[in-house]
Amino acid sequence: MSKMWAGRTAGNTSKIADDFNSSISFDSKMYEEDISGSIVHAAMLAKKGIISTAEANSIIDGLSGILSDLESGALEIDATSEDIHMFVEQVLTERIGETGKKLHTARSRNDQVALDIRMYLKKEIDQIVSKIKTLIEALSEKAEENKTTIMPGYTHLQRAQPITFAHHLLAYAMMLMRDVDRLLSCRARMNYSPIGACALAGTTYKTDRAYEAEQLDFDGICENSLDAVSDRDFIVELLSDLSIMMMHLSRLSEEIILWSSWEFKFIELSDSFTTGSSIMPQKKNPDMAELVRGKTGRVYGDLMGILTVLKGLPLAYNKDMQEDKEGAFDACDTAKICLDVFSGMIKTMTVNTDKMAAAASGGFINATDLADYLVKKGMPFRSAYKQSGLIVADCINKGLTLETYPLQSYKQFSELIDESIYEAVDIKTCVEKRISEGGPGIKSVEKQIKLVKEFLKK
Ligand code: ARG
Repeated sequence: MSKMWAGRTAGNTSKIADDFNSSISFDSKMYEEDISGSIVHAAMLAKKGIISTAEANSIIDGLSGILSDLESGALEIDATSEDIHMFVEQVLTERIGETGKKLHTARSRNDQVALDIRMYLKKEIDQIVSKIKTLIEALSEKAEENKTTIMPGYTHLQRAQPITFAHHLLAYAMMLMRDVDRLLSCRARMNYSPIGACALAGTTYKTDRAYEAEQLDFDGICENSLDAVSDRDFIVELLSDLSIMMMHLSRLSEEIILWSSWEFKFIELSDSFTTGSSIMPQKKNPDMAELVRGKTGRVYGDLMGILTVLKGLPLAYNKDMQEDKEGAFDACDTAKICLDVFSGMIKTMTVNTDKMAAAASGGFINATDLADYLVKKGMPFRSAYKQSGLIVADCINKGLTLETYPLQSYKQFSELIDESIYEAVDIKTCVEKRISEGGPGIKSVEKQIKLVKEFLKK
């Protein structure tokens, strides 16, 4: 087929070159943005007297018809087209005749594609943000139910100090809240319109870029036409933000996988979010969490892909940049499905409070509290730390815990210790006494839940 850009060359490219060059298999995702952008462009051309109002109306009617026919299925995307921009313009010209050929005045596919991808990604960000909020809500609801569910907190995956399950879940809520902030600030920087930059150097027509920007819900225009068509930093930024978000989901996935193992049994995932094994009848596998952990690598890959495509490209547009889309779409689609699955998995999991409590009562996670007890009785911390370590070692030798260690034995290490030690090392007291801001104590956790709820209302 002869190309719309035939002229300088005959446009009779080989089939293999056409297939290689074509982006319609993935950029047809942006048909809605492409058509909306073109409608506004036609209106601007008429407003500035570059085409007549009658011509603009005919173009706009034609484009609206294409949009509704694509939506109803009456019009199918032609897989042999070069890209979505060429396809729409071609159908328009077939439908309304010569006037269709006027649409591309004072415009290039370079500013057109830069516009479409920004419009598309803004919508994606809005959806992703709303899905993150749903997950934050699920986490904070589980936290609310588990404000007094004591569990061991870990460092180095060794039992460290007592916390509550609520406190642990809220840590992830905080991370996800920052993910939302990051995405919204990325959206704000993305929200400048490149249309009107044309191929790279603007145009001799008196266009109205600000009008187009405003009609298309942008905060303003990209002020440098070369920058407008050349940079894809907003994709890099979005994929960085999504990578960070996925990294958070991946860490929680890892914990969910551990917690649902026989070794931990802290939680049980619902049957609706687990799978069985084809050979081992006893298995209940946390596939959803594992897949989220795995797909995190895929999103990181998308980020590396775009960074590498852009590195070394001279200004302005280069065809390499057509490679910006698949990774961006993939990262957004992956993030969305992972968030949906995650929210469902969190909402339906059950918490094994007994198992968590049992784990919290082993492992001497109250040893710091023993040291703090001695400090409050007047011993310097470093000495208290040493004595507590010796007491723990003796407990281990004798198969005892700090709760069951006899007072007489305590006294051999320090005369400062009396009956009140048993209250001080009681795991429940250990959590309740952690009253510092941001800690696992009930007041602090309630404050955190309140913050999360306020954030969700915004
Ligand atoms: N399909 C192209 C892309 O995605 C559109 C822009 C083409 N511009 C050009 N001058 N060949 O990047």
